[in-house]
This record gives sequence, C-alpha cells and structure tokens, in this order.
Amino acid sequence: MKFSRCRGVATLVPILTALTLMAAPMAFGADSGRELTKAKCKGCHGEGAAAGTMTPLSKTQRQWERFFEKEQHEKKAPGTWQQIAPRELEQIRQYLIDHAADSPHPETCG
Ligand code: HEC
Repeated sequence: MKFSRCRGVATLVPILTALTLMAAPMAFGADSGRELTKAKCKGCHGEGAAAGTMTPLSKTQRQWERFFEKEQHEKKAPGTWQQIAPRELEQIRQYLIDHAADSPHPETCG
C-alpha cells in the first residue's frame, strides 16, 4: 500500500513539472518582456548607469520601432546585445513599445 502510493507521487511529479513548464509562458506572458528587460538591459541601464538610464518611457512607440529596425544599439554600443537571443529581444521590443511614453500604458521598469 505504502509502496504504491510512493510510486504514484513519483509518476505525478514529472507530469506536474511538465505541465507547469508548459503553462508558465502563458501565465507569465504579460510579464516576461518586463522581466527580460530587467535581466538583459538593466545591468547597463539601471539608475545612474554610465550608459544612461533606460525605461520604456525613454522613447515613443515610433522611436522604439525605429530603434530596433535600424539596429541603433549596435551602432552606439557594438556587440552588447550579442548574448541576447533574438526571441528574447523580440519580447523586449514588444514590452518597450507596449509601454512607451505615448502608449496607452506607459510604464517604468524596475
Ligand atoms: C553591455 C552593456 C549594455 C547592455 C546589456 C545594454 N546596453 Fe543599451 N547602451 C549601452 C551603451 C554603452 C550605450 C551608449 C550610451 C551612450 O551613447 O552614451 C547604450 C545605449 C542605449 C540606448 C540609447 C541610445 C539611443 O539612441 O537612444 C538605449 C535606448 C538602449 N541602450 C537600450 C537598451 C536595451 C533595450 C537593452 C536590452 C535589450 C540594452 N540597451 C542593453 C550598453 C548596454
């Protein structure tokens, strides 16, 4: 009896873990751009940073679009985005545009 209960838990844990992992991007989708921006950009752009403080409010939606389209960061600070995956950059881009200075939901980050 005891044995089978343990086995039951042992089978359940990986299944629950897998389900949680699959559900996480959906549940936290709205926040992941914000979290990524903090994780990937704030190291160089936190309060009082030498590279300048940066939040979604730093630019308008159109300015953020151009910033990414024209790869302006690469020109200003070559190579600094190399460690960031394209998929992550896309989420960061979306977050910055969604919360830009002239967006319906302007937001600072951090
Ligand atoms: C390794 C350090 C580093 C990281 C990481 C970094 N940056 Fe920068 N960033 C810089 C430097 C250096 C500059 C140039 C500052 C200057 O020109 O005085 C800059 C400039 C900028 C500017 C101002 C340029 C302009 O034309 O307005 C923005 C906006 C910016 N970064 C956004 C970001 C975003 C978004 C991320 C995360 C995806 C990021 N940065 C990650 C170092 C970094």
